[in-house]
Amino acid sequence: MKKLLLMSICVLINLQLVSRTADEDAIAHSPANSKCFNCHGRPVYSYYNENLERDVSKRMNPYFLIDSVAYYNQNHKSFECTDCHSYDYNTFPHDNDLQMEPMPVCLDCHEGDDATAAFSFEKIDQEYQQSVHSTKHSGEFTCWMCHNPHSYKINARTNENIKETIVYDNNICLSCHADVNKYQLITSKEKPNIIKKHDWLPDQIAHFAHVRCIECHTHVSNNVLVAHQVLPKEQAVKKCVECHSQNSMLMASLYKFRAKESRNRLGFVNSSILKDAYVIGANRNYYLNILSGIIAGLVVLLIIIHALLRILSK
Ligand code: HEC
Ligand code: HEC
Ligand code: HEC
Ligand code: HEC
Ligand code: HEC
Ligand code: HEC
Ligand code: HEC
Repeated sequence: MKKLLLMSICVLINLQLVSRTADEDAIAHSPANSKCFNCHGRPVYSYYNENLERDVSKRMNPYFLIDSVAYYNQNHKSFECTDCHSYDYNTFPHDNDLQMEPMPVCLDCHEGDDATAAFSFEKIDQEYQQSVHSTKHSGEFTCWMCHNPHSYKINARTNENIKETIVYDNNICLSCHADVNKYQLITSKEKPNIIKKHDWLPDQIAHFAHVRCIECHTHVSNNVLVAHQVLPKEQAVKKCVECHSQNSMLMASLYKFRAKESRNRLGFVNSSILKDAYVIGANRNYYLNILSGIIAGLVVLLIIIHALLRILSK
């Protein structure tokens, strides 16, 4: 009897597991989304034209193309398109008025949300409100400008590979600062040439691959993991020693999370955190310093003993 009960419980649990994964698959490949991807996921789409009474093929505007692989690998992968966009997009041609529809912003869903409280959305929002982008272009510049609604995935917090995070984060800035069309949607000012503006930095390629734009361009605070207050250009970090010194500012920004974690796990060892990015001047190890001091002391002692022995033997 007991056995039978156990077995039926097992079957029930299994059934539940099966139905849950089936559910998740259904979300991941939501038929509703597939309908949108039929057009927005391919460079050429076709639809039935009622006037011509036949199928017509057209090229999709590249800015309206969405990568389905990236979409199902991001923070909001469980979302249906119509969770954010109007349900009316199910009809094609889309109604022109839909363009005017207000979109939800991060805080609409994340403000006071317990599940994502660790990210401190409210504090990020405060920092963002004081950033150059927001103060100069409050209306048209939103969180979505940097956080692509169809592909943004957290990195700094979760990705073990710091170099990947650096590339990921820098591409967020470069997606606009290196794309005239996107940049000019926001301002009529001429887009500054990023490479030329950083001429003063030696080996720019190495630096851009090893530090993030935000390291030099934001006010670093203890409130959030990723600083969001982009400062006016006059206040950007230009001094080499800010990074190339033993108390490198990188410890307070780029390696912040790693630093906190390994301090908890292993006690604080600078070199263990910086091991995959050797920063000249910043990688001096406290214990090695003591060790080299002891060795130097021993050498002096040996010389004295040697001298004493020679004097004594004479
Ligand atoms: C038959 C092809 C087709 C289907 C299906 C389709 N779209 Fe579109 N969509 C387009 C085209 C083409 C445009 C370009 C502008 C236009 O013609 O309205 C567009 C534009 C858009 C825009 C941008 C509007 C703007 O100008 O800012 C959004 C948002 C959008 N579609 C969402 C969706 C969603 C969500 C779905 C699924 C529910 C969907 N579309 C299904 C073809 C399609
Ligand atoms: C988490 C909310 C969210 C979800 C889910 C979402 N979108 Fe969007 N989408 C947005 C926002 C916000 C914008 C406007 C972005 C901007 O202002 O630059 C946008 C813009 C668009 C555009 C206009 C082009 C562009 O990139 O600006 C298209 C087309 C589009 N979405 C289609 C889709 C399709 C298709 C899906 C589902 C596969 C989808 N969206 C899911 C929030 C979302
Ligand atoms: C329409 C509501 C909505 C909007 C708008 C929205 N989110 Fe979310 N977000 C959610 C929900 C719900 C989750 C929980 C994830 C899930 O269950 O799929 C989430 C999860 C997240 C996560 C956590 C991912 C993880 O793996 O822990 C991050 C980070 C995030 N969102 C950032 C943002 C940012 C940044 C914006 C604005 C640019 C934004 N969200 C806009 C509803 C939203
Ligand atoms: C100028 C670009 C920019 C703008 C604007 C921006 N962000 Fe970010 N945000 C970033 C970058 C870069 C990261 C780092 C991404 C990563 O590696 O996870 C980030 C990370 C985040 C994270 C994850 C931080 C963590 O602790 O893991 C959240 C949450 C977030 N942003 C919310 C917002 C909200 C809310 C807004 C608007 C109020 C906003 N962001 C506007 C660039 C921006
Ligand atoms: C090592 C620090 C450092 C790094 C890394 C860095 N910048 Fe800068 N950036 C500066 C300084 C300092 C200035 C001001 C230069 C001047 O005019 O003297 C500046 C200027 C700028 C300007 C203003 C240009 C103008 O004159 O209008 C922009 C935009 C900019 N940087 C974007 C970026 C982006 C995007 C990245 C990442 C790909 C980046 N920066 C990486 C230090 C840095
Ligand atoms: C969607 C486009 C876009 C994105 C993404 C973007 N920026 Fe900008 N940024 C602008 C525009 C437009 C300006 C010019 C503002 C003005 O002066 O009108 C600007 C100005 C700046 C300036 C110069 C401020 C000054 O004092 O003149 C800096 C520095 C800067 N951005 C850094 C960054 C960094 C760092 C990131 C990534 C975290 C980033 N931007 C992401 C569009 C963008
Ligand atoms: C925001 C932090 C930061 C600032 C500011 C900075 N650096 Fe660096 N620098 C780095 C990092 C990180 C590396 C490590 C690159 C690597 O691993 O090769 C580096 C590497 C270098 C290298 C070696 C390049 C190579 O080919 O390996 C030189 C030389 C250098 N920096 C000089 C300077 C000088 C000179 C300045 C001031 C004008 C400066 N740096 C400002 C962070 C910084």
